[in-house]
Amino acid sequence: MRIAVETTAWHEAAADWLIVAVDEARNFDGPTCALDQALGGTLTRLSESGDLTGKLAELLPLPDAHGIAAQRLLVVGLGKLNELTRTTFEQAVTAAVRQVSTKAGVSVAFAVPELPSDRISARQTVETIALGLTVGSVGQDSLKAERGHYPLASATLLVNDAAPSFAEEAAQRGAILGEAINLTRELVNLPPEQIYPESVAQRAQAVAADLGLSCTVLGQSELEAEKMGSLLAVAQGSDRPPRVVFVEYRGAGDDAPTLAIVGKGVTFDSGGLSLKPSDSMLTMKCDMAGAATALGAITAIARLKLPVNVTAYLGLVENMVSGSSYKLGDILTARNGVTIEVQNTDAEGRLVLADVLHYAVERGADRVIDLATLTGACVVALGEDVTGAFTNDQRWCDQILAAASTAGEYVWQLPTFDFYAELLKSDVADCRNIGGRWGGAITAAKFLEKFVEKKPWVHLDIAGPSFASSNKPHREGGATGCMVRTLVETATHLS
Ligand code: BES
Ligand code: MN
Ligand code: ZN
Repeated sequence: MRIAVETTAWHEAAADWLIVAVDEARNFDGPTCALDQALGGTLTRLSESGDLTGKLAELLPLPDAHGIAAQRLLVVGLGKLNELTRTTFEQAVTAAVRQVSTKAGVSVAFAVPELPSDRISARQTVETIALGLTVGSVGQDSLKAERGHYPLASATLLVNDAAPSFAEEAAQRGAILGEAINLTRELVNLPPEQIYPESVAQRAQAVAADLGLSCTVLGQSELEAEKMGSLLAVAQGSDRPPRVVFVEYRGAGDDAPTLAIVGKGVTFDSGGLSLKPSDSMLTMKCDMAGAATALGAITAIARLKLPVNVTAYLGLVENMVSGSSYKLGDILTARNGVTIEVQNTDAEGRLVLADVLHYAVERGADRVIDLATLTGACVVALGEDVTGAFTNDQRWCDQILAAASTAGEYVWQLPTFDFYAELLKSDVADCRNIGGRWGGAITAAKFLEKFVEKKPWVHLDIAGPSFASSNKPHREGGATGCMVRTLVETATHLS
């Protein structure tokens, strides 16, 4: 969606909905004061009567607004300005957009507020609104006859007269990020009958072709030739053959370093012979969120023409049960020659990533980030909304944590002390694929570390935040597209 930027006065903007943000102090000054006057003092009255409080993400729709050019007005609360963060601001924006996008063909004008610049810059304000407009108007119900949300017919940002020259660019950046997030969400939300290794590979090829990026797909025989014994073992119980895809974007010179973004793409995780109970299996279409995030992120990085070299690697398999499934006690030989005793076929993500990480490093990655819905243990440790970070290189990890903080996403680092690796010892192979009862998110990370050949690496466990069980006012349930913002911010700072 193209998002227009205009300097029209708020009360003169023609649209189905005018969205205006108000904080808890409710000092109606500047353009808000002018709007209130045009409305004949409605905002002041609603504020005095207690109907308009400005509490965070509070929505007050006025479907029959008089005195302004827009048909309807939606006032959205920002909470206390001295507590405002980019995250809460995005929640307020998204809540408002979700409220007005329930019908098809809606036009929206969003009054861009002036926020305290020590909390959120003018540029970030515009970018976040554009992102919220793009993400909030798309739901997870594309296959329902009556959808909950429809794309907006048009969206306009109303900026102040000084017409900041960056507003246009910030709006496009927000829209590009939003569309990347929506691509990730779409791929994760679609049912596993439609999303399997081959179909994801085809989609990646189409997306790459659109952007003029090179895209390579490795099929069964190529993966065998590449000796990806660990990944292939997971795939062997499924009727759907595996794929490894890599999409390359070269925005910097040949001597500039390459960032590899590696994603776990288990298009459905039944658990294999260590079968999941039905309740846990219910949402396992989400187990390719890492791959979808890597793909989403590289589309944004390429569209923003960031001066960096990035390759996205997607490790795509389906973890299924059949007569040909890999078994407990099997000993696999990974691409780097490490032998792995399988003690649980449900710890499959690390087996897939092992080979893809090693492949990425051998193909010349200088820095690595992987994303994976890897462990329930990470959700136990950090809750549903926080990504776990694990690293072998603190400086690299600090860059990603800083990017997450700028992007407004929740990431928290867990330790990777060497003694955790002891828990992966096996009597019959170089290691086993589970680490025992405790510290499961960390032992999974220590397993991955064996395959990155000491390259600076950060593992992001998105098992919690990548998929939400229910709708909230400020976000749709299902896939969230988390970490796309952080990856793009990381790439921005590399350049
Ligand atoms: N895909 C799951 C992890 C997961 C859990 C993702 C919940 C999203 C929500 C992963 O493959 C898995 O099954 N992990 C096991 C590891 C265990 C067998 C060591 C787990 O977390 O139980
Ligand atoms: Mn599993
Ligand atoms: Zn899994």
